[in-house]
Amino acid sequence: MDLGTSGADIERVVVTHEQIQTRIAELARAIEKDYEGKELLVIGILKGAVMTMADFVRTLNRHVEMDWMAVSSYGSGTKSSGVVRILKDLDRDITNKHVLIIEDIVDTGLTLSWLKANLESRGTKTVQILTMLRKPDAAKVEVDVKYVGFDIPTEFVVGYGLDYNERYRNLDFIGVLAKHVYS
Ligand code: PRP
Repeated sequence: MDLGTSGADIERVVVTHEQIQTRIAELARAIEKDYEGKELLVIGILKGAVMTMADFVRTLNRHVEMDWMAVSSYGSGTKSSGVVRILKDLDRDITNKHVLIIEDIVDTGLTLSWLKANLESRGTKTVQILTMLRKPDAAKVEVDVKYVGFDIPTEFVVGYGLDYNERYRNLDFIGVLAKHVYS
């Protein structure tokens, strides 16, 4: 989708489609190196991470296994609740696996810190995180995120998987949602 369809709802573009693709390629090269000679299981966190996961795995020049989890933390508003619920668990046992969690955004960090601990408690060898976006000023807990696409200011962003009331996920860029949409 281009700005023409939803332009009035987007106040400002934060990360362009080209910037996303360039950064994903850089992260993919780093991860190929870091996991050389090791099996890798990437776990996408539905629904926001679908775009990052799809582009990232297609950029990887190596074998990779994929699985998905769905957790809920936001409800339908614009603020993190801190309540994490598993809506869909993994299809498999992940004992002894090198796991890479793929997320669209780390905001307060509550979801990822809970998720990382949860996966580590399943007997994994290693658990690391790749997120397309991080809001450093919004952090409520420290999370060790090894691979970050972009650090962004604390504004409500949508696009490239990120939604507001389930809309805007299909934008191919990331932009600040205009306040008139949610106020
Ligand atoms: C978003 C995002 C993370 C979480 C980050 O998911 O994908 O999982 O919020 O927020 P936090 O750092 O404050 O915990 P959301 O609950 O919006 O679900 P969705 O991916 O299905 O849209």
